[in-house]
Amino acid sequence: MELLQITSSSDFPLISTKKIVQMNNVHASYDSKNHILKEITLSIDRGTIYVIIGQSGSGKSTLLKLMNGMMIPSKGTVKIDYQTPNINDPKFKSLMHNIGYIPQSLGLIKNITVLENTLIGALPRLGKIHALLKIFPEEEIREAKKILKQVGLEGKEYRKAYMLSGGEKRRVAIARAFMQKPTLLLADEIVSELDSVTAREIMNLIADAQKTMNLTAIMVHHDLQLALEYANRVAVIKEGEKILEIGIEGDKIVDFQTGNLATDEIMEMYSTDTKK
Ligand SMILES: Nc1ncnc2c1ncn2[C@@H]1O[C@H](COP(=O)(O)OP(=O)(O)O)[C@@H](O)[C@H]1O
Ligand SMILES: [Mg+2]
Repeated sequence: MELLQITSSSDFPLISTKKIVQMNNVHASYDSKNHILKEITLSIDRGTIYVIIGQSGSGKSTLLKLMNGMMIPSKGTVKIDYQTPNINDPKFKSLMHNIGYIPQSLGLIKNITVLENTLIGALPRLGKIHALLKIFPEEEIREAKKILKQVGLEGKEYRKAYMLSGGEKRRVAIARAFMQKPTLLLADEIVSELDSVTAREIMNLIADAQKTMNLTAIMVHHDLQLALEYANRVAVIKEGEKILEIGIEGDKIVDFQTGNLATDEIMEMYSTDTKK
């Protein structure tokens, strides 16, 4: 795909769907000294694929943690479905069940099977007792097997997670997230370090879920080309600030934020450092 010219968003009509994520002037830090994220303002439409890209240490994972309530902002507001995410707030619990989060480390349990890892996605609706006893209702097992088939893991249900390839592990993490029946998926680098064929297969799974389940997917990537291919919008983060928000409209790359950044500048940012 060739990158074409950047145009101002004012030429395009706004799509007025309901917002699922709204962040307003958000700052975040891990200590009182350094702001990791600064003045982040963004809003994400339900049913879209939104990709966040940026160099290592720019704050991408932190941004996802603000959305799932693992972190709270030091300043500004984060709203998911008009509620404030906070994993320690019982009021947010039911909303949390609708958020599928795939951490950068994937969070699979190595010594249990693909099927058992997938069934973990059902625990929020079933409760811990099922996890302790490792007993799941028959219909949940059927559902997990159906999802594993969808993600291309049929026949590998009883394989232990540590025996899988990198691409297969990501598929299990996606299956576990789908098992949760999320309305919002937050996926941190699930296509990084994959060959481009496998990365596209994984992105196709997300794109299918977007179409069939009206899933909103917010994903962290390194690859700008891949991001633009699948995402409705791509946010570029640099040193904790959102410096750009772009997307493809027809055959053009549209700069929704500044309207005036050159394509060369964008490409330069990613050709030099695409590593974590
Ligand atoms: N738990 C933590 N405690 C302190 N600093 C952290 C922690 N997690 C991340 N950071 C720092 O915050 C910055 C942004 O990290 P992160 O959001 O993980 O970036 P990215 O995902 O873009 O690589 C980095 O400088 C990182 O060292
Ligand atoms: Mg990260």
